Amino acid sequence: MTTPRVVRTREELDAALTEGGAGRRAVVMTMGALHEGHLSLVRTARERADQVVVTVFVNPLQFGPQEDLASYPRDLDRDVALLSGAGADVVFAPDVAEVYPGGEPVVRVVAGRLGDVLEGASRPGHLDGVLTVVLKLMHLVRPDVALFGQKDAQQLAAVRQMVHDLDVPVEVVAVPTVRDADGVALSSRNAYLDPGERTCARALSRALACAQDVARDGASAPSVLAAARAVLDAEPGVALDYLALVDPATVEDVPADHAGPALLAVAARVGATRLIDNVVVDLADGARSPQHEENR
Ligand code: PAJ
Repeated sequence: MTTPRVVRTREELDAALTEGGAGRRAVVMTMGALHEGHLSLVRTARERADQVVVTVFVNPLQFGPQEDLASYPRDLDRDVALLSGAGADVVFAPDVAEVYPGGEPVVRVVAGRLGDVLEGASRPGHLDGVLTVVLKLMHLVRPDVALFGQKDAQQLAAVRQMVHDLDVPVEVVAVPTVRDADGVALSSRNAYLDPGERTCARALSRALACAQDVARDGASAPSVLAAARAVLDAEPGVALDYLALVDPATVEDVPADHAGPALLAVAARVGATRLIDNVVVDLADGARSPQHEENR
């Protein structure tokens, strides 16, 4: 594969976009520290577009004051090398002043109720910061299609809602979560985990898989939640932030008698590292076998 063209300014980006021709353009937005999860988005983009632009930008607007903005891993050379193999054409890696030339923006995108629950409750303003940079990067890159990971399901829901509510002319495509062999969802923040913490971190995906199993057996929403919680409670190294069974689009709790797909989302602290994960579970309709409930 060819090495992508790395551009740092809006002008360089514009030139690279023009040279790419009039075909279909995809964007994959990242904060760098790339792993197979990001590369899976890029490969999916490659299948769907003629020109693939990857943005690498650690967006200060989405980090809280106590969060890891300063220590967030940054290694553009490594990222570009990985992107060469995955089929990116252009890497847009601006600095903060290039994205926010006047300092912090006065006008921002507000995630509304989508930004108040789950991630929003733990990280106030986080999703507003995400949506603001996503909309700016969409304006700068002008993509036909934008790819986001299912790993950040609430972010995906918020981006979809923004695209709908603000008539952003882009198709949003979700890409399944890539996991390590031990089930842990790939995340740039996994690099912070020491070996003991890494073992504890497995409880998150184990809890979600267990919930999927009981849902497959016909369990109700409360039983699915209880099954996941039991797995998490059994791992003392995991400090649970939230565990919720929600509507994938609105991110609001599903009722106890919910039938159909629901998003089971978890966030927890393992040591000093905050991890999130989720799966979609398919809940049987209200007439599920009472036998199952008796057996629990
Ligand atoms: P970042 O955490 O770098 O993630 C970039 C994209 O990769 C997101 O769409 C995320 O959902 C996806 N991703 C991360 N881990 C994944 C995994 N294990 N499997 C599949 N996809 C995965 O999300 C952000 O950056 C930022 O908030 C951003 C959208 C770039 C705005 O700053």
